[in-house]
Amino acid sequence: MRIVNFGSLNLDYVYRVPRFPAPGETLGALEQRVVPGGKGLNQSVALARAGAEVFHAGLVGAGGETLRELLREQGVDVSLLRSTDTLQGNAVIQVNDAGENCILLFGGSNRAITKEQVAETLGRFGPGDLLVLQNEVSCLPDMIDEALARGMKVALNPSPFDESLRALPLDALSWLFINEVEGAQLTGKSEPDRILERARALYPSVGVVLTLGSAGAVCSLPGEAVVRQPAYRVNAVDTTAAGDTFTGYFLASWAAGETLPVCLKRAAAASAISVGRPGASPSIPMLEEVLAFIEEAES
Ligand code: RIB
Repeated sequence: MRIVNFGSLNLDYVYRVPRFPAPGETLGALEQRVVPGGKGLNQSVALARAGAEVFHAGLVGAGGETLRELLREQGVDVSLLRSTDTLQGNAVIQVNDAGENCILLFGGSNRAITKEQVAETLGRFGPGDLLVLQNEVSCLPDMIDEALARGMKVALNPSPFDESLRALPLDALSWLFINEVEGAQLTGKSEPDRILERARALYPSVGVVLTLGSAGAVCSLPGEAVVRQPAYRVNAVDTTAAGDTFTGYFLASWAAGETLPVCLKRAAAASAISVGRPGASPSIPMLEEVLAFIEEAES
């Protein structure tokens, strides 16, 4: 199985703040950093650090060449990554003392992907290959249609959630990764088990993974009992990219043939480690570290 992530790349402008400012208020930041991010890039870094071979497809914009280099250094195949004059996609991220964040997203280059690029890129893949997606790029419906027409499997993290997602053929996906908020928006339910039940009914053949922050994660596969994974306790420094890390680690483990409980355990551990560190992609651990973390937690 080849894995291609058609995903966003962002320059993350990260500001550590004592609290989030109120409307009309001016508040001094305690620290500022620029780090590689974007849900797509974070997922590709997580896939690579978890040991998977991954192609990252998409667009690097003006001012974003360091993002291509970062992916290359991580061992991600960037031969399908194209360039555009459009300004690099970026995010302004405030992180408070509790490790919570507020993210303002500017799509830029990530929204300049065209149908032609989608056809050209996915034309290189076929039955059994896996397409990984989030909702930060243009042409998402075309990517899904093209991949399904080619017999590819599709894994989607519908984040950030918007109404356009309802029109997608979600029931034809192989994997859907949602958090509680996205789950409630998709299913109309608020309690985790009800979200999962409803998602199972709406998308009968899809593997649904519901992440629940400090309450862990649950996964429902068609025709199988629900598998639950508790969260690992860590001191939260910055939750940015926790979901991307979870998705990347889960899919890399799945592609490597691991069982569902192992996939969930590695994803939860990697995500916990990333929450204990600042930044998006810089916070994503290597597989050896994740395995050592699990061993210590279980000893
Ligand atoms: O999921 C975290 C990511 O969301 C950040 O890296 C930021 O770029 C936004 O896309």
